[in-house]
Amino acid sequence: MLLERVSKMKYWIKKVVNRYCEDFGYKSLCEIGASLGGATDRILEMNGIQLTVIDPCLDADLCAKYRNDKRVTIYKGLSLVIIPKLSETFDCILIDGDHNWYTVFNELREIEERHLLRNGGTIFLHDVDWPYGRRDAYYQPDTIPDAFRHAYAKKGNENSDHYDAETEGGERNGVLTAIEDFVRDRGDEYMLFCFKAEFGLGVLVKKNGIKSQNTLAKWRLLCAIWNIFGSFIITIKHRDWTHLFDPPRELV
Ligand SMILES: C[S@@+](CC[C@H](N)C(=O)[O-])C[C@H]1O[C@@H](n2cnc3c(N)ncnc32)[C@H](O)[C@@H]1O
Repeated sequence: MLLERVSKMKYWIKKVVNRYCEDFGYKSLCEIGASLGGATDRILEMNGIQLTVIDPCLDADLCAKYRNDKRVTIYKGLSLVIIPKLSETFDCILIDGDHNWYTVFNELREIEERHLLRNGGTIFLHDVDWPYGRRDAYYQPDTIPDAFRHAYAKKGNENSDHYDAETEGGERNGVLTAIEDFVRDRGDEYMLFCFKAEFGLGVLVKKNGIKSQNTLAKWRLLCAIWNIFGSFIITIKHRDWTHLFDPPRELV
């Protein structure tokens, strides 16, 4: 089956991320992987925030796009090159860059070792569901060390902007596997819950210092309800059900 890369982070910004950030009073955000700035523009609909963006600008000149917006700082480069140079701390970090185990695991590790996420902060990660939850994708395969790179090929159409691992599953493969491996080594420090559908949104919460346990409980409940009903509604939306309303053949 062909895998075509379609970003749905914009969708999750509107449905979850902005509302969640407003609930927790988050003001300083970092977005890793911004492409044309579609999700960025939606994040900027929140009041009183500061946003740091990390992206190699493969798709658009984000420096030019946000030159006149004082709320936005753009770092042009790969996340694993830029993150080690940062010293600020963020309430919230969004990860939607290179969707492979090596990059995501090391982004999380660097964020923690450099204390870039405040206590009680949250990391949102896109593509925790099929197809990249358990399968690596590579924008620039030569930036991934050989030992961590699976055999890969272009699985989507010829114009696809990235490569996919040829096999799904197994060790060190995919975004969700990277998050689980990161969390496993850290005992009770983090909580992970995931919204299904639209390629999946992982919510990784640093439990120490969380401002409101009730608000967190509300979001976990919303996520559970979403995973029962929301994904069902999307399934219906993305299929063509119009034939159900065609008149019965014998009447035509
Ligand atoms: C799926 S797109 C992001 C879409 C964006 N979040 C949106 O919703 O509009 C992935 C982006 O990650 C960027 N990218 C690829 N490798 C990266 C890396 N190692 N570090 C940071 N960004 C990376 C690409 O340039 C691309 O713009």
